Amino acid sequence: MRIAFLDSGIGGITVLNEALKQLPDENYLFFADTLHVPYGTKSMEEVNACVKQSVDIIMNEQVKALVIACNTATSSAISELRSSYSIPIIGMEPAVKPAVEMNRTTGKRVLVLATELTLKQSKYTELVSRVDDQCIVDSMPLPELVEHCEALNFDRKNIQDFFTTKLAAFDLDSYGTIVLGCTHFPYYTDILKEMLPEHIQVVDGNAGTVNRLSQVLQSTDRMYSNSSSRIEYMCSNNDPEYIKKMKRAMEILHL
Ligand code: DGL
Repeated sequence: MRIAFLDSGIGGITVLNEALKQLPDENYLFFADTLHVPYGTKSMEEVNACVKQSVDIIMNEQVKALVIACNTATSSAISELRSSYSIPIIGMEPAVKPAVEMNRTTGKRVLVLATELTLKQSKYTELVSRVDDQCIVDSMPLPELVEHCEALNFDRKNIQDFFTTKLAAFDLDSYGTIVLGCTHFPYYTDILKEMLPEHIQVVDGNAGTVNRLSQVLQSTDRMYSNSSSRIEYMCSNNDPEYIKKMKRAMEILHL
């Protein structure tokens, strides 16, 4: 039985990559909802319907756990999914809590970058009001970065120009941490770090999510050992070119 990962596109491959490090003996199915990418500019109801369609396909594939490797899909659909299916479903949320803790004594602020839909959902606003007791958290939607990523645009200069424009409104000296609250964004961690003042840390929720997956597999007796892991890629429009793109995206993370 495999562990399934779902995202709108190639973003969730950054989470799968973390799973390969922490759980190298599992088999994986990665599903991209290419018919509906991007999710972040849609309404919650639309994303909910797209996620449900994709999960229905995934559930026919003999999977033992499902990771919603997408912050946007998690905030829109996780509760309904959990009440509809019996296997463990692990979701994601921007790593706001650890980022606030990291800056408790630094006097610096936290900037969360995510999709528009993630940032306007009550799941996010409630998370911030619960953990941001010092009012240090700011956020900015970056839908264009999802587009760059889906186009496999990893041109250093081009992406740094993009970040320079987007971050111009922020006094970076007053920030201690940038949270990547969308699974498409960790492809750009190194490019972003290179251009930021050295004291700013860039964090994402990938390792935390895979820790959680690992705990759930253990506690439900679903951990499995193969001699090596196997990954199958699927997408909702069955496009062989997109399957190649997903494999290329995984390679890019290993460059
Ligand atoms: N990768 C997704 C996330 O973590 C969403 C990107 C999109 O489809 O807009 O939010």
